Amino acid sequence: MVTNRTFTMIKPDAVANGHIGAILDDIIKGGFKIVAMKYIQLSPEKAGEFYAVHKERGFYGELVSFMSSGPIVAAILEKDNAIEDFRKLIGATNPADAAEGTIRNKYAKSIDANAVHGSDSDENAQIEGSFYFTAFERF
Ligand code: TYD
Repeated sequence: MVTNRTFTMIKPDAVANGHIGAILDDIIKGGFKIVAMKYIQLSPEKAGEFYAVHKERGFYGELVSFMSSGPIVAAILEKDNAIEDFRKLIGATNPADAAEGTIRNKYAKSIDANAVHGSDSDENAQIEGSFYFTAFERF
């Protein structure tokens, strides 16, 4: 089902480096509407649950400890073609490969601390948004 929604997190590195405002500005200027948003810190258990799909990957342990190392901003965003357009706005997973002007190009330093998350499918956007927000907190 196409929802025109995606889910994002501003990750602990970008929050710690003071980039929340600049990243939200890029997101809004990119044409996305913020549907829901919260500022929270994940427990290692919750971070592990969120990234369970990567459980067998070598970077899983470090990813879980990084994602629970400090506060994040979680948000549901809305725009036509949201999944694809948001992936374009943030750039490649590895900031070294991220196109000029993308969020990861501007604010990320490494593949493991890469500033932002963006859902890779409509189905995952739905699952990830529901992981953070109850039906009361979404509209
Ligand atoms: P992935 O889903 O492949 O990338 P994306 O976030 O662009 O959808 O990976 C999820 C996260 O896992 C990624 O944002 C950062 C981390 N990661 C690493 O730490 N090392 C790696 O080699 C990869 C591929 C990902």
